[in-house]
Amino acid sequence: MMKNTVTTIQNQKEKGEKITMLTCYDYSMAKLMDEAGINMLLVGDSLGNVVLGYEDTLSVTMEDMIHHTAAVARGAKNALVVADMPFMSYQTSVYDAVVNAGRLVKEGHAQMVKLEGGANVCPQIKAIVEASIPVCAHLGLTPQSIHAFGGFKVQGKSEEAAKKLIEDAQKVEEAGASALVLECVPAKLAELVTKSIHIPTIGIGAGAGCDGQVLVYQDMLGMFSDFTPKFVRKFANVGDVMKEAFTAYKEGVQAGSFPAEEHTYKIDEEVISKLY
Ligand code: KIV
Repeated sequence: MMKNTVTTIQNQKEKGEKITMLTCYDYSMAKLMDEAGINMLLVGDSLGNVVLGYEDTLSVTMEDMIHHTAAVARGAKNALVVADMPFMSYQTSVYDAVVNAGRLVKEGHAQMVKLEGGANVCPQIKAIVEASIPVCAHLGLTPQSIHAFGGFKVQGKSEEAAKKLIEDAQKVEEAGASALVLECVPAKLAELVTKSIHIPTIGIGAGAGCDGQVLVYQDMLGMFSDFTPKFVRKFANVGDVMKEAFTAYKEGVQAGSFPAEEHTYKIDEEVISKLY
């Protein structure tokens, strides 16, 4: 298998082959997802929720993102690595956006950066793309705007909001974005958006009409129970399997059955006898 690039995913859209993306935050998981043939690994700022234990994504820093992106990049032989630009790393100015996107590529070894917003961030998208860094845009429920939205809600439901979403999608494409994440958007609207632009759409809670899908891996593996959105399918109950293993370990250690003979290292009896 070849390394996935912007060209790979663009070709997938054109051929009607679905694009697969999962969030990823560390080396071991990146290797597993890569071996499973997942096209794109997103080092999402959902890192804040599922790895760092914050209530939202707003506290995630550039240092956090670089640290985790670099780990994922070391494990991703074939998958395209996308790094989220954290809150306030691009909203402040076009200059900040280019510098921080550059750091995610230079220090984190991302192949693409993702930022949230439409027309309001087009100057940033244009400048990052001019610096030869591919950009993935993100519309719909954009978690960095949680306070402005007044909570996590499905977006684009009114005629006005739906029209704005389609316009924003066209604008981010015009600004040079290579892909677009659509989060928590009615399925029919996401399908319309997908047909109205030439770059691939990747949906999460946006129905099957998108060019690809993304899920947070802890959600799809049943490892995160603080909150499970309606759009999540648990493809496995890994959380239960892990808890069983942790309990078995605890019981094994307490009962003295672990470690067993085969887990120990030998020393000559003669050496031992001299120590007494
Ligand atoms: O941060 C994230 O994981 C994301 C996905 C949910 C699309 O932005």
